[in-house]
Amino acid sequence: MTITILGIETSCDETAAAVVADGRVVHSNVIASQIELHRAHGGVVPELAARGQVTAIIPVVNAALARAGVCREDLDAIAVTQGPGLAGSLLVGVNAAKALAFGLRKPLVTVNHLAAHVYANWLSIPGVAEVEPPALPAVCLLVSGGHTELLVLEEDGIQRVLGRTLDDAAGEAFDKGARLLGLGYPGGPAIQKAAAGGNPAAVALPRAWLGESDDFSFSGVKTALLRTVEPYRVPETAPPGPSASPFPEHRPPRFHDDMPTGDLAASFEMAVVEVLAVKTARAACRCGARSVLIAGGVAANLILRRRLVEEVAVVFGGDSPPVRWPHLSLCTDNAAMVAGLGAVLYNHGEVAAWDADAFPRFPLGSAQLGSRRSMP
Ligand code: KG4
Ligand code: ZN
Repeated sequence: MTITILGIETSCDETAAAVVADGRVVHSNVIASQIELHRAHGGVVPELAARGQVTAIIPVVNAALARAGVCREDLDAIAVTQGPGLAGSLLVGVNAAKALAFGLRKPLVTVNHLAAHVYANWLSIPGVAEVEPPALPAVCLLVSGGHTELLVLEEDGIQRVLGRTLDDAAGEAFDKGARLLGLGYPGGPAIQKAAAGGNPAAVALPRAWLGESDDFSFSGVKTALLRTVEPYRVPETAPPGPSASPFPEHRPPRFHDDMPTGDLAASFEMAVVEVLAVKTARAACRCGARSVLIAGGVAANLILRRRLVEEVAVVFGGDSPPVRWPHLSLCTDNAAMVAGLGAVLYNHGEVAAWDADAFPRFPLGSAQLGSRRSMP
């Protein structure tokens, strides 16, 4: 019998709803982005994000059900992101999911956003990206705007965190690097685009290897980029125009024309990506991984994907495991990953109580839903 789950994701500035069958097959995946709302501020403004969630949530849920051709009564459960994320944004999704589940007399399932990102590697989109479940044990690099974690998923499905960032997340490093280069928001795609015309070996930027550790650090490379662009900066003399932000740090910097933006973007991108790729490949070899996975928004980065494939081939020699990443629509925040992992939890009887709270801090590996369960 098919299990049909509606997933809801509102942890940050995307309002998303999706319908997934049997924890694997994506029937609809609707995402309303607030990028334009936050662009003027150079980053996400939590209060604006929460208010944007309130207006978008019901239309997005309705669209997800309509696109899947599913009526509310056909659903087996409602799954929702419980954290980590922005408190105000999370509360909108949790409350909407509770109201729906309560009204329909269906179970509510709460999901860890980070575990859901990892789970995106298990999802198939019919006719677009049909995949088999990854072989276990797997090593997964989870790289998003708020988190950078290296995990091993054991054969029995237990997830263990091998290492994490000691300061900035990889996506955060891209966002801050893009701001330093005046490339705008969100930074990851902007850096990737600017880097396409640049030479990644042009500017020497530091890599934080941290010995044999599986942890990461990106504050050094960010500071080095800041120092490198400083001589090209045009000092702000004239008062800002009427449409400019009143906060100087929110106004895009201006640079002299001779700044090699493409080379700087490419060198910065490679400095971040190389450490991620080498450490992930090394951990995969040590753990005897049968697949190597990337998850989270930064998994959209083409250079990260390419470098990881290269590094895995180098450390494993001839017999290297496949390197996989979710379809682009499932890398950045989405609700299909929430509905998918929600099905796994539902099948294990992990149904939430009506007093379920939102958890702005919700580390992976804490003894909570979605962090320890096996993948199907
Ligand atoms: O997973 P996600 O959508 O949201 C969080 O849970 O944080 O990740 C968003 C992050 C942002 O920092 C964004 O700059 C980064 O993913 N990102 C990228 C790319 N696309 C999105 N970073 C590098 N290259 C990309 N192509
Ligand atoms: Zn995310």
